[in-house]
Amino acid sequence: MKALLICVSVSRGNTRKVADVMASVLDSPVVEPEDVTVEDLASYDLIGFGSGIYNQRVHARLRDFIAALPEGGLNGRAFVFGTSGFPPLTTKPLQRQLTRAGLTVVGEFFCRGHDTSPPFGWFGGAKRGRPDADDLQAAREFAQALLA
Ligand SMILES: Cc1cc2nc3c(=O)[nH]c(=O)nc-3n(C[C@H](O)[C@H](O)[C@H](O)COP(=O)(O)O)c2cc1C
Repeated sequence: MKALLICVSVSRGNTRKVADVMASVLDSPVVEPEDVTVEDLASYDLIGFGSGIYNQRVHARLRDFIAALPEGGLNGRAFVFGTSGFPPLTTKPLQRQLTRAGLTVVGEFFCRGHDTSPPFGWFGGAKRGRPDADDLQAAREFAQALLA
């Protein structure tokens, strides 16, 4: 199985930590949206789309990338992953776009990430130390389940 992770992690690298753990299980590269084309994606069986949550949304670079996927242009499996200071709002709209692109959405993984956005950042941030070892273990197990 050929897997690819597309990840935007601009604040503290929290989501990248999750991506790296998943990548080690899936034996997959981790790239940014600008590094791949739709034609590239067609050669993967499994694609993970990951981002931190910023102002209640995944990063615009990932949103724009997903929105630009041609309808029915792909046919592999997909999942969404990320980190956020608080439990994220639903990613169902994003998942619907992936489905529209022809991908079969097989899951979602989120955990907390050290949040230094204002006002939390003024006091050292919220959820310090996250993702922690337990979060990364959960990410590892999520990826292992995708291999099964
Ligand atoms: C500008 C900014 C806005 C944020 N907005 C939210 C938010 O709306 N909801 C939330 O749960 N976390 C929010 N966070 C926290 C991030 O989602 C969290 O720190 C995440 O782990 C960042 O991922 P990254 O290090 O991969 O960029 C925000 C962080 C920043 C820097």
